[in-house]
Amino acid sequence: MERTFAIIKPDAVLAGHTGAILQRVNEAGFSLRGMRLVRLTKTDAEGFYAVHRERPFFDSLTTFMSSGPAVVLALESLDAITRWRTLMGATDPAKADEGTLRRQFGSSIEHNATHGSDAPETAAFELGYFFRGVELG
Ligand code: CMP
Repeated sequence: MERTFAIIKPDAVLAGHTGAILQRVNEAGFSLRGMRLVRLTKTDAEGFYAVHRERPFFDSLTTFMSSGPAVVLALESLDAITRWRTLMGATDPAKADEGTLRRQFGSSIEHNATHGSDAPETAAFELGYFFRGVELG
């Protein structure tokens, strides 16, 4: 079993898509090990996305991620990191496959509805950024 970290981003929460996305999580067979509604500060978002600090979209991305409530998730399954990224689809919703979460719920490369860790080391950092070990089922 593997764990990954996911976010239902502020655009999707604001649009009322939280329930539909959680249903897709369940239907895909992930076990929910942690879940919380959070409101990131700009500083929280900057720390989370620190690897992107030099990117031109960093300020816009972290402003967006701190613009409203988001739902943070710890998901578990076999091969969870890859399976969650497949379910999300490409970063840019316009390039994401039909049937993926970003294609269905995202509206731009920034407002792309969901986030998922891209590697085991990233998942460990990101899970630890939002959950204390004792909170995870
Ligand atoms: P995410 O998977 O959360 O990881 C980093 C985020 O940066 C990404 O989703 C997008 O929301 C955002 N992002 C990536 N590339 C761009 C870009 N070219 N312009 C704006 N935002 C981007």
